[in-house]
Amino acid sequence: MPAQTMIEIQQLKKAFGDNVILENISEKVNKGQVICVIGPSGAGKSTFLRCLNLLEKPTSGKILFEGTDLTKLGAADVQKMRAKMGMVFQSFNLFPNMTVIDNVKLAPMKVKNISEEEAQAEAKKLLEQVGMGDKANAYPMSLSGGQQQRVAIARSLAMKPEVMLFDEPTSALDPEMVGEVLKVMQQLANDGMTMVVVTHEMGFAKSVADQIWFMADGYIQETGTPEEFFAHQQTKRAQEFMKKILEA
Ligand SMILES: Nc1ncnc2c1ncn2[C@@H]1O[C@H](COP(=O)(O)OP(=O)(O)OP(=O)(O)O)[C@@H](O)[C@H]1O
Ligand SMILES: [Mg+2]
Repeated sequence: MPAQTMIEIQQLKKAFGDNVILENISEKVNKGQVICVIGPSGAGKSTFLRCLNLLEKPTSGKILFEGTDLTKLGAADVQKMRAKMGMVFQSFNLFPNMTVIDNVKLAPMKVKNISEEEAQAEAKKLLEQVGMGDKANAYPMSLSGGQQQRVAIARSLAMKPEVMLFDEPTSALDPEMVGEVLKVMQQLANDGMTMVVVTHEMGFAKSVADQIWFMADGYIQETGTPEEFFAHQQTKRAQEFMKKILEA
């Protein structure tokens, strides 16, 4: 089957005032692909991810999602599109005054008008999927960081997104909790979810990504399969970055 383009980025530019953060980015994400975006701090990785679902408005260029240019949509349609793009951040932002399962149920009920029974059943299934079935009635504060992040992933999946965007989902976690979150993400990837993941977890990138996008100075400097990229970086910028990582 030929690859089906899910997101196409054309000549993306993002500036804050005079400060150009992203420039000349043109890439494609195919359905079912896992892209890992890696690169130094300040490269523009978060800004790039936020442009994909219009949390940041691109200064120029296009973001085509299943053929529709998101930059041309009105606010209501942007909301609809965004529901198809789940996003998980470094900080989990669960609602502290709600139980785990209520956190997961909330958006589908509110945004999609799904009945409570249906939302409850679906939320239970998702919590099982991320290994949090036994914590459905707990409050976020009583959970570890890794557990909260897994709930955040379940909450995002509850909207049945077509693509999941992750911005350093494990970098706020204690080291011993990183693995359990990466495992959930790996499972999602195995199940065929399209994913764009900003990460510093090179092991994950190596074993799960279909493509590595190396970003520095507001630009995707090179792309390649993990085999290609980790064996030999083409650009000096990427070589320096990998050298620093290996020394760390
Ligand atoms: N809302 C904003 N207003 C002005 N400048 C911003 C804004 N958001 C980001 N920037 C600037 O854009 C640049 C890229 O930031 P960004 O957060 O995208 O980098 P990053 O690659 O995600 O870095 P890190 O690895 O540290 O998360 C930085 O110089 C940052 O100061
Ligand atoms: Mg960032």
